[in-house]
Amino acid sequence: MTPNSSMLILVIDDEDYIRLLIKKELSNNYRTVLAASSAKEGLSLFNKKTFDVVLLDIRLPDGDGIELLDNLRASQPDCEVIIITGHGDIESAVSAMKKGAYDYITKPFSLERLELVVDKAFQRVCLQRENRLLKQFQVSNKQPILIGKSESIKQIKYLIQKVAPTDAPVLITGESGTGKDIVARLIHTQSLRKDKHLIIKNCATLQKELIRSELFGYIKGAYTGAMQSQDGLIVLAQGGTLFLDEIGELPLDSQSALLRLLENKTYRRVGEKQERYADVRFLFATNKDLSEEVKAGRFNEALYHRINVIKIYIPPLRERIEDIPLLVEYFLSQFSTHNPSFILSEDIMQHLLNYHWPGNIRELRNVIERAVILAENGKITEHCLPTEMAEKGKINLKVNSLISNLLPLQTIEKQYILHVLESVSGNRSKAAEVLGISRKTLYRKLKEYLL
Ligand SMILES: Nc1ncnc2c1ncn2[C@@H]1O[C@H](COP(=O)(O)OP(=O)(O)OP(=O)(O)O)[C@@H](O)[C@H]1O
Ligand SMILES: [Mg+2]
Repeated sequence: MTPNSSMLILVIDDEDYIRLLIKKELSNNYRTVLAASSAKEGLSLFNKKTFDVVLLDIRLPDGDGIELLDNLRASQPDCEVIIITGHGDIESAVSAMKKGAYDYITKPFSLERLELVVDKAFQRVCLQRENRLLKQFQVSNKQPILIGKSESIKQIKYLIQKVAPTDAPVLITGESGTGKDIVARLIHTQSLRKDKHLIIKNCATLQKELIRSELFGYIKGAYTGAMQSQDGLIVLAQGGTLFLDEIGELPLDSQSALLRLLENKTYRRVGEKQERYADVRFLFATNKDLSEEVKAGRFNEALYHRINVIKIYIPPLRERIEDIPLLVEYFLSQFSTHNPSFILSEDIMQHLLNYHWPGNIRELRNVIERAVILAENGKITEHCLPTEMAEKGKINLKVNSLISNLLPLQTIEKQYILHVLESVSGNRSKAAEVLGISRKTLYRKLKEYLL
């Protein structure tokens, strides 16, 4: 049962005494009981609100309880119905169960039994709702591994271990493919919340008009099309962790609602006045520079300070090339169907070390997966690398050898200009931009070197 859930119960029974008794016995802080004395009144109440549990007398003066049960189940399948039967009417109770009733109680019933059946029915309602929601959102139980021996990876591992057991929000930054997801998963699995869900939501995929309802949920009738109340991601993450990826994509108007949630730990479902408590740990990730976004007026400054208490920055792979051999080994073992494992020649490793990896570890992983497929007799050769990479590697090697041969500056400049031109497929404006010179200077140099 979700801890912040309150239960709405409907009793449909023509006996005043039964309605009063149930109302008196069940009503408390988290159970609200409404009552109806006929099928008609019951149905009309049922259609106005979202009930969790209905206690239904099978013999009503104005209609057949079984028929009513069909109606209730069809209109709100998440709601559980408990049948109230008279003594000796077990047969109708059994046929009601066949039609989808959750259980039945026989009059006169003990109050303990009543409470037990109602609470159990509610537990099932919560579970069904949670399962339905979980199907819609990404939930992960994968065990993350962060490979690397560079100083920055060591520092990140240390920070994760320090920050994981706290409830502090963490902002994870770094280029695409650097491992932000893994860091978020590690924080969750090393936290005290590890037995609860880690809910991952990419803010870029939130529908602008529906962000608040996706995050906080909504009540029936909150807007056109809201036929049933629905919990938001906050409820799913209750007790656990909510990882909001690409937080820089969250529109400004939703940012203030998020700030309120972070500060007060309370939220409201759309269309509802009642405040609810959120016991959720927040993680954020972005590949944008949020301080720049704040300056540009696209990101709420207060929210930025609130989420930027602990920042974990993951440097791009090209700045920690000492991690490449370990990562290669790891991915080879992951993709290997071959035993003994694949062999990688020294010059292939050199190619991998020289490459600039714009897609970071994700790209490296894909390159290794591809190489394993193309390998012949367990050997990974140049043909197994994407052509572009093999070529760039070669040129880089050429540039490296030029430098180690201690050549005149002019020769190196000429070779380097050629290398940049090749890398940008001959586009001279782009080449000039990469080289940090004007197009005019580039043309002059090309002429000078007879290129
Ligand atoms: N240090 C690492 N050790 C092992 N695998 C890694 C490491 N870093 C990244 N990976 C793997 O690389 C891929 C990309 O990583 P991840 O999804 O965490 O990147 P990201 O920073 O979240 O990227 P994006 O900004 O595109 O969401 C994943 O398959 C992940 O498992
Ligand atoms: Mg990611």
